Amino acid sequence: MIPIFELTRQYTRFESEISKALTDVAASGYYILGPNVTAFEKEAAQYLGVKHAIGCASGTDALLLAMKALKISAGDEVITTPFTYIATSEAIVQANATPVFVDVDPDTFNLDVSAIEARITPKTKAILPVHLYGLPANMDEIRALSKKHNLFVIEDCAQAIGAEYKGQKVGSFGDIGCFSFFPTKNLGAFGDGGLLTTSDDTLADRLRMLRVHGSHTRYYHEESGLNSRLDEIQAAILRIKLPHLDEFNKTRQHIARQYTEKLARFSDLLTTPIIPEDRTHVFHQYTLRLNTTDSTQRNAFQEALREEGVMSMLYYPIPLYDQKTYQNLNYPASDYPVCEQLRHQVLSLPMFPELSDTEINMTVQAIEKSLAATFKTGAVSV
Ligand SMILES: Cc1ncc(COP(=O)(O)O)c(C=O)c1O
Repeated sequence: MIPIFELTRQYTRFESEISKALTDVAASGYYILGPNVTAFEKEAAQYLGVKHAIGCASGTDALLLAMKALKISAGDEVITTPFTYIATSEAIVQANATPVFVDVDPDTFNLDVSAIEARITPKTKAILPVHLYGLPANMDEIRALSKKHNLFVIEDCAQAIGAEYKGQKVGSFGDIGCFSFFPTKNLGAFGDGGLLTTSDDTLADRLRMLRVHGSHTRYYHEESGLNSRLDEIQAAILRIKLPHLDEFNKTRQHIARQYTEKLARFSDLLTTPIIPEDRTHVFHQYTLRLNTTDSTQRNAFQEALREEGVMSMLYYPIPLYDQKTYQNLNYPASDYPVCEQLRHQVLSLPMFPELSDTEINMTVQAIEKSLAATFKTGAVSV
C-alpha cells in the first residue's frame, strides 16, 4: 500500500543525529524551554524573516495564544475560512469570540478576498487566513483590508512553513503567525509542537508571558495564560531538520510537478492544483479536484484507489459552518457555494519528501485505473 505519508523514512535518514540529540537532551537535565528551544527560536526567526519566534506546545495553542495576546475575547468577531482544519476556528471559540466564515476562492481554496469586506462589522477584530495545503493566501489584499478597517491579521501557517508570497515567507505578513510541528507537517517534530512569529516587540513579550501561565517572573501572574511550552527534545529534533526544510519543500514541489504533468491527460475528469505566479506552494498536501459534484463518485474513486493500493485522504469533507459544534452559529450552507462544491470534489494524494519515483508512477497508474472504473464512459456529470 502506498501511504499518504510515511514518517520513518525521514527518521532513518537522520537517525544518528537524532539519537545523539535525544541522548544529549536527556543527559543535560534541561527538558523544557532550555538552550535548544532558545537556539531554535533564533534559527526559526532568521529563516522566516521575522524579529521574534516563540515556541509553544502545538499549532492549536499558537492560535489560542495569538488570540489572547491580541486581547480578542467575548463579543469580538474573527473572519476566517470554513475550509480548514477545526483548530483554526477552535482557537477563536476558545477565546470566547465568534468565527465568521467567508467562502473560499475556487482556484486556490484560500479565503476569497473579494467576499471579506461584506462580513466586516463593528465587532470584527481580526482576519485569520489559512495558507491551505501549503499555498499562501492573497496577503496583499488581506493586509489592505486590515489596514482600511483597523483589524489584526493572524496567519495560520500550520500547513505552509517555508512558502512564499511575492518573495516573502508566510508568518511574516500578519501581526502574528502560527505554525505547527505536528509530525506529518513539512517540518515535523516527534510529538506536538508549535511556534508563533511576530516582529512586534510588545506582542512577543506578551506571547512569552502568556505561554508560561501569564507570568514574566515565576509565581507572579499578570493575567490568565496557558501552560504551552516547546520542550527540549522537540526543539533539538527541529534544529536538526530546519536546515533541510527548503530541500524537503523542493522535493515536495518536484513530486507535485510530476503528478501534475502525468495527470494532465485526465483534465476532463480532474483538476490539478493551481499556483498563482506570485507565490510558491510547499505542497503539504497535493489535492485534486474531481470534475464532479457527486461525492458518491469521488468516494467510489477513493475506494477504487485503495483497492489499487494507494491511500488518499479527504481534506475536508465537512466545512466548518456545517460541523455539529457550530450549529448554534446558524451559518447557511448556501452562503458558501464554493465550499459546497469542494467538499464533494477534493481528494489528496500521497505526499511526503521521501515518496519515490516508483511510488509516484504507481499512484498515477492507480489513478488511471480508478478513473476508468469510476467514470466508466469517461463522461462525467458536472
Ligand atoms: C490549518 C491548521 N491549523 C492548525 C492546526 C493545528 O496544529 P496542531 O495539530 O499542531 O495543534 C493544523 C494541524 O493539524 C492545521 O492543519
